[in-house]
Amino acid sequence: MEKRILVTGAAGQIGSELVPALRERYGKDAVVAMYHHNIPENAERPYEIGDATEKETLDNIIKEHEITEIYHLVGVLSAKGEQKPALAYRVNMASLMNVLELAKESENKPKIFWPSSIAAFGPTTPQDNTPQHTILEPSTMYGMTKVAGELLANYYFHRYGIDIRSLRYPGVISWKTPPGGGTTDYAVEIFHEAIKNGKYTCFLQKGTYLPMMYMDDAVRGTIELMEAKPGDIKVRTSYNFTATSFEPSQLAEEIKKHIPEFEMDYKPDFRQQIAESWTNSMDDSDARRDWGWKHKFGLPQMTEDMLVNLKRELKGS
Ligand code: SER
Repeated sequence: MEKRILVTGAAGQIGSELVPALRERYGKDAVVAMYHHNIPENAERPYEIGDATEKETLDNIIKEHEITEIYHLVGVLSAKGEQKPALAYRVNMASLMNVLELAKESENKPKIFWPSSIAAFGPTTPQDNTPQHTILEPSTMYGMTKVAGELLANYYFHRYGIDIRSLRYPGVISWKTPPGGGTTDYAVEIFHEAIKNGKYTCFLQKGTYLPMMYMDDAVRGTIELMEAKPGDIKVRTSYNFTATSFEPSQLAEEIKKHIPEFEMDYKPDFRQQIAESWTNSMDDSDARRDWGWKHKFGLPQMTEDMLVNLKRELKGS
């Protein structure tokens, strides 16, 4: 059957890079981007506008485009979710339930990708090299929606045979798209400020380790997971998925190798507590064993690539 892909949350941090990557791989017309409101100026067709929490809207789009795969990326992230917990619950859960129910009801049962996150972990989770199967007692609303979503994914797979696959994304870093309302956002902001002003005030404390990944790896890994043979996918909740782990001062030191005058100070805010509740590093050996996950970018490679591309980008703007 011909692949027809729907990407919800197409204007988000992951979506805005996954859509072009999927179009490059499967053809432009095979990928329908779904936007909520903020349609990017350069949005290319085919796209649809709609609210994924409205089941009928989603149903119509899936039917009209004869969708065979859904990357359901809609989500309110961790920091914004703590400011608007009820909104995070509603958007994250209602949209996911819609996608799962529509997949269940449809004849051709679309394959689904849904992102979980390190936010599924919490203060009681082992902090270092966190295992695949571990304690999931998050303290943020965002994290709660991720744990519930992981269990729903597993349930819809076993009970209804929906081929749903998921990754626990670490902080994702990119020069193309700014993140929106997350706790790992500092690791992107720092590059912008280093290039523009030579200094940055970090909202996380020195020493706050978090698992991280460059966007190129995140996009490639996501597509590889979706292309893996169904029998190779042994984890139907969500795979630990990581490349590296660092804390703010290590990133600052790496940037200094390229911009020696760069300076950083610290002014932790409410996001510090969120970051502390997450793990320092993740063991993703199940993903590496089951479907061959392999990252390419560590901290030095990522820093260099970010600076080269972002400098060029900011010059042009
Ligand atoms: N990057 C996300 C956040 O900080 C983690 O899923 O919210």
